[in-house]
Amino acid sequence: MSKKVSFGYKQVEVKDKEGMVAEVFTSVHKNYDLMNDLMSAGMHRIWKRILIEISEISEGDTVLDIASGTGDIPKIISDQLDDIDIFMGDINYEMLSLGRDRAIDENFHSKTSFFQLSGENLPFIDESFNLITIGFGLRNFTNKENGLKEMHRCLKENSKLLILEFSKPTNTVLSQIYDWYSFNILPKLGELFANDSESYKYLAESIRMHPAQEDLKKMIIESGFKDCNYYNLLNGIVAIHVASK
Ligand SMILES: C[S@@+](CC[C@H](N)C(=O)[O-])C[C@H]1O[C@@H](n2cnc3c(N)ncnc32)[C@H](O)[C@@H]1O
Repeated sequence: MSKKVSFGYKQVEVKDKEGMVAEVFTSVHKNYDLMNDLMSAGMHRIWKRILIEISEISEGDTVLDIASGTGDIPKIISDQLDDIDIFMGDINYEMLSLGRDRAIDENFHSKTSFFQLSGENLPFIDESFNLITIGFGLRNFTNKENGLKEMHRCLKENSKLLILEFSKPTNTVLSQIYDWYSFNILPKLGELFANDSESYKYLAESIRMHPAQEDLKKMIIESGFKDCNYYNLLNGIVAIHVASK
């Protein structure tokens, strides 16, 4: 029997998921930054700053940002550090091109290199990085365990992986309001500002299918990391998992 995996609430063939995720981001790429600001009321910017605050990144480090998209995380890193080597990786050509254009326009290209890659099969030798970050990307992977093992392989000893991702709200009332917002407002915002409600329906569904805080922590530890803690943001709507190799 052929293997299936979730694409939002649908079960699809393993071999098809990557292409379906690619269609979503190719469809939304032009309005991606605008929609992020609208959907989160600008809060995603704060969450990404917190991610870097707790990263303990230092001058001279080599960093891989997976699912880098339009480059929000590399931009924050490059603003804070002079001597830094940032590898921006994304599977989607359109998203990565926007990130590269932005790095040139906002003058952080000299600290940055660009790789069209899958986070599930990293084209780097073992122990290449002092830090790996991934913001709102892991949810879209076909095989998250493979991705986490690859991240572990490519990190140096005593280095960190930081995962910023939607997670599970801890408060039941907030959770109900958030569900209503996700399934009623998000697709409408998508329709209105990006002419694409389906991609934003996928966003809402993919968030519900992503492992909750403790489950993701377990998956991270099982992928080889020696420890993992997480911080809930906005009552757990978003969480940052910090894992050490
Ligand atoms: C929601 S965006 C996040 C972009 C950026 N990190 C941010 O926080 O704004 C998700 C990104 O993950 C990328 N992506 C999805 N699956 C991927 C994979 N297997 N490997 C690498 N990138 C992937 C998509 O192309 C998209 O650019």
